[in-house]
Amino acid sequence: MHAVNGYKPGLEGVVAAETTLSRVNGQIGELVIAGYPVEALAPQATFEEVVYLLWYGSLPTAEALKQFSGELAALRPLPQATVDLLTAVSRTPNPPNAMDALRMAAGTLNLGVESQQYAQALVARLPTIVAAYWCLRQGKQPVAPNSELSHAANFLYMLTGEVASRARVRGLETYLNTVVDHGLNASTFAARVIIATQSDMVSAIVGAIGALKGPIHGGAPGPALDMVFEIETAERAEPYLRHKLATGERLMGFGHRVYRVRDPRAEILSAEAERLFKADGDMSLYELAKSVEQTAVSLLAEHKPGRNLQTNVEFYTALLLHGLGLETELFTPTFAIGRTAGWIAHCFEQLKNGRLIRPKAKYIGVADKAWEPIEARP
Ligand code: ACO
Repeated sequence: MHAVNGYKPGLEGVVAAETTLSRVNGQIGELVIAGYPVEALAPQATFEEVVYLLWYGSLPTAEALKQFSGELAALRPLPQATVDLLTAVSRTPNPPNAMDALRMAAGTLNLGVESQQYAQALVARLPTIVAAYWCLRQGKQPVAPNSELSHAANFLYMLTGEVASRARVRGLETYLNTVVDHGLNASTFAARVIIATQSDMVSAIVGAIGALKGPIHGGAPGPALDMVFEIETAERAEPYLRHKLATGERLMGFGHRVYRVRDPRAEILSAEAERLFKADGDMSLYELAKSVEQTAVSLLAEHKPGRNLQTNVEFYTALLLHGLGLETELFTPTFAIGRTAGWIAHCFEQLKNGRLIRPKAKYIGVADKAWEPIEARP
């Protein structure tokens, strides 16, 4: 899109913040998180290490990590009012999906903690909200958090009531680390706009959750997996995808505002999904997804020549989270669980360095209408 009189639709290319949190180079497919290439960080670090890195600027020592992880674990239990809200919401005639329930309940997370603890409470409690609501929706009692387990292991434990294998915990941890931060994406920008008004951290994160939910931002992985399931066999991929494009639909999991090559996060998540599916899963689903990806990328090249529509993070998110045993409805809430750490880091940065974010709109309406009394209006 081109600027017309300084107007850039979607703010494309506009620099609206300085950050030390992540660098995205869309031309070469590079993502650096707080100084580390994402390929090195995501598959090796624990999630707690990455949160610490983003918030304090360096990887923790063993002692600092132990203390930080312990503080987060102690904050996992939810305030009673949050549990009551989730219980009431789960019993309504048409209970909302897990992402809407997360947005509603996240707004209560200032209860029972001082404002300086909001950041830790948000990271610690988002998984508890998602898992508790998931249990309640199935008529079960929520599983209490287990402070002996890591952040990722505890989330899987609260969802199922069983301690997950090391391979599954590693798979989830790699996912959460991969999506933890990504420049000035829509939800991060929303969080920065809110905190820049000197509002509070809980409000900023609730706003960001609302932005992430949209189907062209964090809501894409569920539909991406549905698409692979509907395709069923590699031979059906081409007619199915051609039909979608011919009827004006977007292929979920493809295209990106910034990347003009394959999203580097797709590479990490594809490798992790392959490892997981090889160990205990359905390799034929993985092979099918690979073939759907190839067909989609070549059809998109025909459909929008020169636009370089490539695989984005959401395509392999879907496959990996499915491999971890998560239902599609949990994909976007799980994205929020990872990204919250990044949103909060951006809030800290915005509070430290930023000004009120207040761009301009170019008025394109008329300005000389005569007032019409209500009885005279057509
Ligand atoms: N399938 C079909 N056509 C596409 C796709 C797609 N996945 N992506 C872009 N296009 C087309 C658009 O229709 C548009 O065509 P037009 O010029 O005729 O209107 C053209 O390519 C350019 O697309 P834009 O919408 O201008 O690109 P933008 O930078 O705004 O969009 C976006 C990026 C929203 C991610 C888009 O590629 C899309 O909708 N993809 C599918 C949804 C998705 O996977 N979202 C997850 C993104 S990753 C994340 O947010 C975590």
